[in-house]
Amino acid sequence: MSLAPAADSAETAMAKVSLCSMPLVLAIILLSATHSEQHQSSQAQTLLRIVRFLNFPTVLNSWNNYKDLCNFEANSSLAVVCYEENITQLHIIGEKDAPLLPRNFSIDSFITTLVKLPSLKVLTLVSLGLWGPLPGKIARLSSLEILNLTSNFLYGAIPLELSSLTTLQTLILDDNMFSGPLPDLLSSLPVLAVLSLKKNLFNSSLPISLSDLENLRVLGLSHNHFYGEVPDFSRLTNLQVLELENNDFGPQFPKLGKKLVTLVLSKNKFRSAIPAEISSYYQLERLDVSSNMFVGPFPASLLSLPSMTYLNFSGNKFTGMLFENMSCNAELKAVDLSSNLLTGSLPKCLLSDSKDRVVLYARNCLDTRNQNQHPFPFCRNEALAVGIIPERSKQKQASKAALALGLIGAICGGVVLVGLIYFIHRRMNTNKTMKKSPPRSITENASSGYTSKLLSDARYVSQTMKMGALGLPGYRTFSFEELEEATQNFDTCTFMGEGSHGQMYRGQLKDGSFVAIRCLKIKGSHSTQNFMHHIELIMKLRHRHLVSALGHCFECYLDDSSVSRIFLVFEYVPNGTLRSWISEGRRRRSLTWTQRIAAAIGIGKGIQFLHTGIIPGIYSNNLKITDILLDQNLVAKISSYNLPILEESMEQGGQGVSSGGSLTSSGGSRMKHDDRTDVHNFGVILLEMIKGRPVKSETQVEVLEDQLEVALTADEAARRSMVDPLVRQTCLDQSLKTLMEICVRCLCKDPADRPSIEDVLWNLQYAEQVQDAWQGGESQSSEGSPVSPSIPSRLTY
Ligand SMILES: *[C@@H]1O[C@H](CO)[C@@H](O)[C@H](O)[C@H]1NC(C)=O
Ligand SMILES: *[C@@H]1O[C@H](CO)[C@@H](O)[C@H](O)[C@H]1NC(C)=O
Ligand SMILES: *[C@@H]1O[C@H](CO)[C@@H](O)[C@H](O)[C@H]1NC(C)=O
Ligand SMILES: *[C@@H]1O[C@H](CO)[C@@H](O)[C@H](O)[C@H]1NC(C)=O
Ligand SMILES: *[C@@H]1O[C@H](CO)[C@@H](O)[C@H](O)[C@H]1NC(C)=O
Ligand SMILES: *[C@@H]1O[C@H](CO)[C@@H](O)[C@H](O)[C@H]1NC(C)=O
Ligand SMILES: *[C@@H]1O[C@H](CO)[C@@H](O)[C@H](O)[C@H]1NC(C)=O
Repeated sequence: MSLAPAADSAETAMAKVSLCSMPLVLAIILLSATHSEQHQSSQAQTLLRIVRFLNFPTVLNSWNNYKDLCNFEANSSLAVVCYEENITQLHIIGEKDAPLLPRNFSIDSFITTLVKLPSLKVLTLVSLGLWGPLPGKIARLSSLEILNLTSNFLYGAIPLELSSLTTLQTLILDDNMFSGPLPDLLSSLPVLAVLSLKKNLFNSSLPISLSDLENLRVLGLSHNHFYGEVPDFSRLTNLQVLELENNDFGPQFPKLGKKLVTLVLSKNKFRSAIPAEISSYYQLERLDVSSNMFVGPFPASLLSLPSMTYLNFSGNKFTGMLFENMSCNAELKAVDLSSNLLTGSLPKCLLSDSKDRVVLYARNCLDTRNQNQHPFPFCRNEALAVGIIPERSKQKQASKAALALGLIGAICGGVVLVGLIYFIHRRMNTNKTMKKSPPRSITENASSGYTSKLLSDARYVSQTMKMGALGLPGYRTFSFEELEEATQNFDTCTFMGEGSHGQMYRGQLKDGSFVAIRCLKIKGSHSTQNFMHHIELIMKLRHRHLVSALGHCFECYLDDSSVSRIFLVFEYVPNGTLRSWISEGRRRRSLTWTQRIAAAIGIGKGIQFLHTGIIPGIYSNNLKITDILLDQNLVAKISSYNLPILEESMEQGGQGVSSGGSLTSSGGSRMKHDDRTDVHNFGVILLEMIKGRPVKSETQVEVLEDQLEVALTADEAARRSMVDPLVRQTCLDQSLKTLMEICVRCLCKDPADRPSIEDVLWNLQYAEQVQDAWQGGESQSSEGSPVSPSIPSRLTY
């Protein structure tokens, strides 16, 4: 009896307790709910920002439900995986050949955003146009197990910080532009099982510490510029896939564990024999040692290894006799023995009727009539020669150097400076009768008293315009006597040519420097003041990529002080027109691919300066390849450009209106796409630089543009066929493609579709960068390879 009330009270006590704690529990539940909601929405925001960084790739177009991102339906190109509300996996795979993200993309800010998903274990960002050096802070994703950044444009070294990712199992950076050495620290990743760095620009030997990666199963280093001996991998007992294709490894066959399944050593510099123990690699399925300089007996026992399906021995110096009674694995799908020094008869087991087996054995000395065999003595003699194959690399390099010297040394006269001040002359060129009184020359102070409103608006934008940076003397007035002396009284031997805009003389000043002097006869009656606006503007048009004026001299009539002649003194640009280096004077001199890109960048910068370096900008310059001159360092300079301001001021001058007041308006009145006519002309110049043939008519431009467009979407061979044969072998496809693409865009019919000059420059500089990076490693690798160094076809833009 006494128990019941006790139990009752216990019950009520419990009820009380739970009642009391109810709000607390509720609060906890609510709190955690809002916390989780907040957490989700902050992750959603991070994702949204990632999408924005990626410039809204089409794969993410229909992805706008960020609320329920953890229950998002995945497919092969997009997946988000959560574990207890935290995003642990993110896969975004863009379209093949995705272009670079725009210039304002910052890999640093992108990664900073990405690391706000700290639970990420798997991160796949493929074909998204990411560019820039991979920031070390990606290591803040400390749970990362799989990182796959295939097919982007990441460059620079692999950040050392990655070595702190102790849980990293898979690192895939294929098809980027990474370079430099492999960090030693990679070997401190204890569980790394897959390391794939194919199709990059790594140029180093492999760190010995790689052989400490005991868990390594897959090592892919193909298509780089790695060189030297492969470290001793015999301790890597888990290694199953080793792909070293297309590097400069060698000369010794690598030491490997016996569990190998795939071994690809093709296109390297291996020169040893194949060790006998390879016959005990019983799991080996795929062996490709093609295109090396392997010597010694052909290890025929490989044909009968139990797992073997693919054997490629082609393009080596394997010797030995084959017998009909040799045995081979029935599963063999492909055997390529071509281009070796094998004799005897082909094993019968290879000659099965099976359609799904490929057997190639051309260019040996086998006693068969099939597949183009050499006579027996060929193999014997070649075999005797094995081991004393002469080193050809030194010779090759020497002749390259000689070529380069010849190119630089080939200085040619015959310079034509196309009229900078065409416009002045055009205005002057009326048929008014000349005054007969004898002229005299005067000098005046160019910089005082003539500053119009216009000129006060004209200002320097570019630092490089500063005089010192150009290595040019300051602008000044010349005396007539000085010019007479420089040209030996305008002797015919200094005469360079005459255009519709006046005569041109070459002169040598007292200090020894050469100048080009243009002489303009002035018709009509104009005071020096009328010209000071032009002169002051010309003074300011100084840029590395413009032929700059150094000074002027007025010659005036005595009676009324009106101007009879103007002499404009320009820097002398000694190396002729760009056309003479591209499509004329063939075989004697021609710019290399790299020099062509550099020249194109120079022209682009010159145009950019004309458009934006002064205010108002100078547009519609009617640029032609013959107006581009090259200096002694093959720096491109624009020698003819348009000054509508001057033209306008001349009209006003002619009407006797004081020039000054209304000139500033000319900037505002320019047409909407004025700047794009220069871009079009630039496209025509670029076309000629790619083709290496003179492009002289508009129809020619159209035809070639169509061809370029077709080639762009076709394969590398098609693109290469479009290029000047003189540079065809040396241009990287990626840089070629970039140039072709920008060229096509420049030539668009609708000016609005043409790129801005900034865009053009950005692309050209990108092309230069990839070409440079590639050549930087290439010079390393051109040594005595049996095949011509193949050009990586990667990096499609
Ligand atoms: C980059 O510039 C484009 C316009 O050119 C703009 O739409 C985009 O939002 C910018 N992206 C970033 C990350 O600033
Ligand atoms: C995957 O899903 C996204 C978003 O739902 C969609 O935009 C994309 O086209 C899909 N991709 C494929 C290959 O189905
Ligand atoms: C989810 O992320 C939050 C915040 O980063 C963290 O505190 C929590 O431990 C994570 N939960 C799991 C299950 O990983
Ligand atoms: C990495 O991405 C590439 C390209 O989509 C894919 O082929 C490869 O299987 C991926 N590797 C891993 C381990 O996810
Ligand atoms: C063997 O390798 C060479 C290049 O190294 C290649 O051209 C050839 O197609 C390969 N043979 C087979 C059967 O794959
Ligand atoms: C194969 O034939 C050659 C000569 O025809 C002979 O010397 C060799 O012993 C034979 N090998 C086998 C395994 O029968
Ligand atoms: C690797 O390439 C870079 C850039 O092309 C170059 O500066 C560097 O000297 C090269 N390093 C080696 C070891 O070849």
